Amino acid sequence: MFLPAKKILQDALKNGYAVGAFNTSNLETTQAIVNAAAVKKSPLIINISESAIKYAGLLAIISLIKLVAEQGQAKNLPIAIQLDHGKNFDKFPLFIKAGFTSIMIDASRMPYAENASLTKKTVELARKSGVSVQAELGAVPYADEESGFVSWGKIMTDPNLAKKFVEETKVDSLAVAIGNAHGFFKERSDLDFERLRKISKLAKVPLVLHGASDFPADRIKEAIEGGVASFHIDTSLRVAFTEGIREFLAENPAEYDPRLILGYGRQKVQKEIEGKIEIFGSTGKG
Ligand code: G3H
Ligand code: 13P
Ligand code: ZN
Repeated sequence: MFLPAKKILQDALKNGYAVGAFNTSNLETTQAIVNAAAVKKSPLIINISESAIKYAGLLAIISLIKLVAEQGQAKNLPIAIQLDHGKNFDKFPLFIKAGFTSIMIDASRMPYAENASLTKKTVELARKSGVSVQAELGAVPYADEESGFVSWGKIMTDPNLAKKFVEETKVDSLAVAIGNAHGFFKERSDLDFERLRKISKLAKVPLVLHGASDFPADRIKEAIEGGVASFHIDTSLRVAFTEGIREFLAENPAEYDPRLILGYGRQKVQKEIEGKIEIFGSTGKG
């Protein structure tokens, strides 16, 4: 059952759990995500980035998700198909038509006024089709892009600005920067939970944390208590998939059936996601 992410996040916020937004760009990862959610009876957000669309093809990846998610036990789960880090506003109508139920507009690297204006335009467009919108205020850095040095003070979300941003744009959920970073990032290991709680109190929308692959369980719990309703996870799935394949090939160097090789990677990704779902507390909420 495909729904806008807004519905899924509102229930999560109300009931004190969070929903994983897991990135995919291929068959095996998609199956692993959907199977894990089915095993755990969990609501689900499936993330597709613009570079994943470029890799797989828009209709190919959307149709694949729809077919996989409409099969078997996943059929009745609340599932959102979300554009992750959307930067090309001109393509949003095409993406919505193809079947995305949620759009993340990422104008976080632009000045406040441009970010707010693009987000507002996206909300107005999305509302016409019942699609929900996530935006980002502050900037969540990337491990490879920032080469280890980040001016955290400059990029973290300002709670008062977050309130203004949500009021101006009417966005449904907000990705915030409180010391989190994409990828396995070692420079900063703490998160500014006080800032998070302030943002939540003032902005009054479900909050989203990107770069959550390497968060330990105690951080996840504190973040949920601070108003986070969704965590974006990509790197740890890539690592599980690739390490699984490396392990399989090391043990079976003569194997050349891609189904066995990729199938082993798929199993590893599914286990990784099942573990995340348990920590997020969304087991049985679907
Ligand atoms: O936060 C970004 C996501 O991990 C997507 O990455 O653009 O390489 O698909 P990607
Ligand atoms: P990680 O790759 O750090 O898990 O972050 C994923 C993400 O934020 C996708 O939007
Ligand atoms: Zn992200």
